[in-house]
Amino acid sequence: RHRLVIAVDGTSGSGKSSTSRGVAERLGLRYLDTGAMFRAMTWWLLREGIDVRDAAAVAAAVGRPAIESGTDPRDPTITVDGVDVSVEIRSDEVNGAVSPVSAVPEVRARLLDLQRAVIGDGGIVVEGRDIGSVVWPQAEVKVYLSADPDARAQRRAAEQGGTDVASTQQSLLERDRIDSGRATAPLTMADGAVHVDSTHLTLPEVIDQIVALASTPR
Ligand code: C5P
Repeated sequence: RHRLVIAVDGTSGSGKSSTSRGVAERLGLRYLDTGAMFRAMTWWLLREGIDVRDAAAVAAAVGRPAIESGTDPRDPTITVDGVDVSVEIRSDEVNGAVSPVSAVPEVRARLLDLQRAVIGDGGIVVEGRDIGSVVWPQAEVKVYLSADPDARAQRRAAEQGGTDVASTQQSLLERDRIDSGRATAPLTMADGAVHVDSTHLTLPEVIDQIVALASTPR
């Protein structure tokens, strides 16, 4: 039987991960962080010494790494060729390279197959940029999460132990610009998505709103 899928899309640093994990825990669902998969691919390309700005070189290599995502919202893990890279994929180097890599259609096609396989028959909260529009347009609940750039940069810098807010904001906005402007599966508000602006909401408040959406008869 097909079970619930909740798609959570939105800009970088809008709180998608904390929110999605919280919703999954509250509802007893699995959790998939698709951004971590793009980050894992990017980490592997960098480690292989492949030029991430060379779309043809990236496209030729996408089939090589084995990427696996855990789906426990309390302990999401991501491995590349069996090695846990959960920490490495959050580096500045990966932050700076992930959006150009994610714009390469062959990267998206490869990861799309993996994402759909994990979603399977549902029972999962899936976060990303194109979940409600491309990966799983039939999701029962679609959320577009946003927040003002100042709020996003402050939260992200605090998470990272007080790194510079201005440079954090610059990096977030640069990723948004590339993610929204790309030709294949750009960041957009999907048809039927509910817009939740988290700027003036606490994390529990955002989680409550999405849990309420999931409990509303459709
Ligand atoms: O969600 P997170 O910020 O970790 O995602 C990192 C990057 O991965 C995004 O900036 C975007 O370039 C890419 N991404 C994507 N499609 C998704 C999820 C992430 O292109 N569904």
